[in-house]
Amino acid sequence: MARPTSRFVCQGCGEAFLRWEGQCRNCGAWNSLVETVVRDTPRTARARGPVGDGTAPIALSDIGESDLPRLATAIGELDRVLGGGLVPGSLVLVGGEPGIGKSTLLLQAAAGLGRPVLYATGEESAAQVRIRAGRLGLLDAPAGAAIEVLAEHDIGRIVEVGRTMRPALVVVDSIQTATVDELDGAAGSVGQVREATVRLMEFAKGEGIAVVLVGHVTKDGSIAGPKTMEHLVDAVVSIEGERYAALRLVRAAKNRFGSTDEVGVFEMAGSGLLEVSDPARAFLAEHPEPAPGSVVAPTMEGSRPLLVEVQALVAPAGYGTPARKASGIDPNRLGLLVAVLGRRAGIGLGSHDVYANLAGGLTVGEPGLDLPLALALASSLRDRPLAARSVAIGEVGLLGELRSVTGLERRLREAARLGFEVALVPRPGRGGASVEAPGLRVIEVATLREAVEAALTEHPRPHGEALPAMLG
Ligand code: TYD
Ligand code: MG
Repeated sequence: MARPTSRFVCQGCGEAFLRWEGQCRNCGAWNSLVETVVRDTPRTARARGPVGDGTAPIALSDIGESDLPRLATAIGELDRVLGGGLVPGSLVLVGGEPGIGKSTLLLQAAAGLGRPVLYATGEESAAQVRIRAGRLGLLDAPAGAAIEVLAEHDIGRIVEVGRTMRPALVVVDSIQTATVDELDGAAGSVGQVREATVRLMEFAKGEGIAVVLVGHVTKDGSIAGPKTMEHLVDAVVSIEGERYAALRLVRAAKNRFGSTDEVGVFEMAGSGLLEVSDPARAFLAEHPEPAPGSVVAPTMEGSRPLLVEVQALVAPAGYGTPARKASGIDPNRLGLLVAVLGRRAGIGLGSHDVYANLAGGLTVGEPGLDLPLALALASSLRDRPLAARSVAIGEVGLLGELRSVTGLERRLREAARLGFEVALVPRPGRGGASVEAPGLRVIEVATLREAVEAALTEHPRPHGEALPAMLG
């Protein structure tokens, strides 16, 4: 009987080789060969995919509005990110750095489902999973009894057990330890990861069972293994945070069954991941009094306002190129703001080392962080804090002009709710309207220079006294 064999296929030109080579002999691309299973099924049959034979087109208007049934995990913050729960027959990838809490979250979700779950783990022994379940307090709960643990890395076996057991959910922890029998490559190699993902997708779609894959993320933030894996799955959920800090942010980078706007906020405690009751303030560091270099920004993660503290430290540089270090913030943005501050706002940082980060291990990519970051840098250089209970938000252009951000009113309302009293925001452009929030003094500025003046030169008095005339 002919056993399916493997070939090394160039990802650039498609040429197949029997052995791995560093360079493709056909197109000359380096490091482009990936071990791939050669199937004996004809191409056309494969191309049709798991949908089955005789798929006929249906008029869009005739497709029933079947509400996608959802499997709620009973973890509100996770269901929120998934768009209401797991969809049967979907394939979800949960990514995050090692030790961030992927296995913890999935074990909690599996127990919360209250339905039969197959938990396949190639990373840990069944006993280790049991110890974790004990720590999480999931052993006594009747729901815990519904979880079957399979310590296995062979995808063929996992699929086989899944077919007989027919659980509501299959968890594969992790895709980097999963192997496909027909391939010789080591677990975690591009070929193995991709083939394993394809098989699990076929299983999920074919059986209508939800499958969740765990994927480790490399230091540069991409899910280890090929990018193609992200195209194959229905949703990519990532867990972010600093391993040694308690807060975790869960967000969907891709979701075929919901929006990618929602974030979930958790705290890692002794008994697992706990939902944070007031996420908006979760990432705020509490200071007894205002500190130079610290600016609070009302950011928005999807539809959820989150207040975060931007911290900056500038110090005279020694010899050589001054350092520009950012964590949780785009380093290119930091470099650009240093340049704009120097050229447009009279804050010269050319001979200073510059460090910037977000408190709580959060990563924020939105441009609205520009103004708070620039103000934090200026505040650190001048060694003057901003006024107590103040926030700032806005995008900074190359000319030093400020641009508004979306959802300004939501952000300011949230800041007011959390006890902030002053907000520095971009002056609305032509046609734009000013935004107000009860209990918040909103100061509108048009340029970065104005913003620096307003924030650092004359402090608004702590309790509601008049600001300098130029701001009125
Ligand atoms: P884990 O879920 O194993 O991470 P991952 O699967 O992403 O690699 O969790 C890792 C860390 O979480 C581990 O260092 C210990 C910590 N932890 C807690 O703080 N509390 C708990 O209840 C559990 C189970 C883990
Ligand atoms: Mg794990």
